[in-house]
This record gives sequence, C-alpha cells and structure tokens, in this order.
Amino acid sequence: MNDAPIGVFDSGLGGLTVARAIIDQLPGEDVIYLGDSANTPYGSRRLSDVRALTLAGLDRLVELGAKILVIACNTATAAALQDARERYGEQGIPVIEVVTPAAKQGAATTRNGRIGVLGTAATVRSGAYLDALRAVPDVEVIQNAAPRFVEFVEKGETTGEAVTEAARQYLAPLIAADVDTVILGCTHYPLLTGVLSRLLGPGVRLVTSSEATANATYSELIDLDLLHSPRAAGEHAHYRFLSTGESPEFSALARRFLGPEVHGVEVVAPTRRVGEDR
Ligand code: DGL
Repeated sequence: MNDAPIGVFDSGLGGLTVARAIIDQLPGEDVIYLGDSANTPYGSRRLSDVRALTLAGLDRLVELGAKILVIACNTATAAALQDARERYGEQGIPVIEVVTPAAKQGAATTRNGRIGVLGTAATVRSGAYLDALRAVPDVEVIQNAAPRFVEFVEKGETTGEAVTEAARQYLAPLIAADVDTVILGCTHYPLLTGVLSRLLGPGVRLVTSSEATANATYSELIDLDLLHSPRAAGEHAHYRFLSTGESPEFSALARRFLGPEVHGVEVVAPTRRVGEDR
C-alpha cells in the first residue's frame, strides 16, 4: 500500500494547483491526477449531479490503486465529502479535501475579521465556507460566486480585459465590505492571482487551498504510516495525468499550470454522464 500513488481529483485543470503543492511537499510520492474535463464546469451543476460525478471519478482513482484520495475541488468537496469519506473509509482509504484547510488559513490570516470568499455558484450555494468558519469568533464572511472564472482558466485565458472586467465585478461586494483576506474557494482561481491581486491591492491577502491541502495530505500519510518507501538513488516519482475530455489544450495547459512533470495527458472515457442513475 505504501508505494501506491496519491489520487488527486478535480473537474478539470484547477486541481493541478493542489497537485503542484503535493509534488513539491511530497517529492517521493507517485501521483495520479484525474480531471473530469468532459463534465467541467461542476460549479453550475446541481450538487446531486456533482456528487455523482465526483464519486465516479474517485472510484476510478481507487481502481487505479490510489492509497489516499485528494478532492482538489471545492465544489466536489461541498457536494460529496461526506459520502466519499463513508464509501472509501470502509476500504481504509483516507479522503483529503480543500475547504477546511483554506478556511483555517483564512481565519489565521485575517486581522479585521472580514473574510471574503470567491467560489463557484454551487460552492457558494452549499454554504460550505460559512459552515467551516461558523465556529470562529468575530469573523464575518462575505461570499460571492465567480461563475466565469473557471471558463477563463479552462481556456488558458488568465490575463486580459475580459477576465479583469469579470474579476472587478466579482470582487466589488468584497471590496465594499472592506475584507482584508480573500479565500480563493475554487482550485481554478489561484491561476488568476495576478488579476485578483492587482485589483485588490497590497492590503488584502489572498488565501488558496493548495499549500494547506498538501500539508494535510502530508500529515495524513505520516499519521497512517503510508509514506512511500525510500527510493533508490536516481529513482524518481511517477506522475500520471488523466482527463476525461479530448481537449487538445488540456495537455498544453496542464504543462503550463503544473510544470515540466506533465509529459502527456491520457484521455480516458468519462465514467459517468450527468443525469444517469446509479
Ligand atoms: N475547481 C473546482 C472548485 O474548486 C470547480 C471548477 C468547476 O466549476 O468545474 O470548485
């Protein structure tokens, strides 16, 4: 089991921001990444559909031998975390998610107690961040959906007038509420950090789930004694990137967003279509 890979799941490219942090913090671990590009974006779907798609994706990672599952998608976490923990817990496979680590980091970062959250429509509707921050005293959460951001990132459009104008609109209520911290509650959004930081100015801190989620993965592997066995000198970790979509850009964008570890992307058939009954 120790030498099995870490399975990382997202609706598309966004989870690569989390995979990057995992590779950096756990260079001895093999990683299999699955992006459900055939069904992206999840953020505009019903939570019940997102739950079904997420469990199908995670099932596939389990079939491929994952020893731990990382749901590198806030929308999927909001929709399916509880079910996933029950389902894979029975098989002894731990499930890591992205909402709690980002919420904790947001709470530790704010000084004025006003935290903005940007997320997909489904994540905002689920109230996942409100729930995660409810117990923190003296914190007010102002959330807003940023529905077009995922579309921009999946196209590789991370700068320019259109994305800047959309960002200006999405940030307006957060700026009006005088937030000093903005949680990027979608794993696609760190790829828009340049645009967002410029509009928010230096007084507002951006919080992403990548580092904190990689930390949580690291801790879980240590606690469960599941770290990969020591590698021989010169032996490198293996990385596989799978996508359910045929998008020719996926490979190029995955390389741009994650880095040189992406040698190619394997296209796999979607395990599930929205609307099917299990
Ligand atoms: N990356 C996903 C998240 O963190 C959402 C992307 C989508 O809408 O498919 O919420």
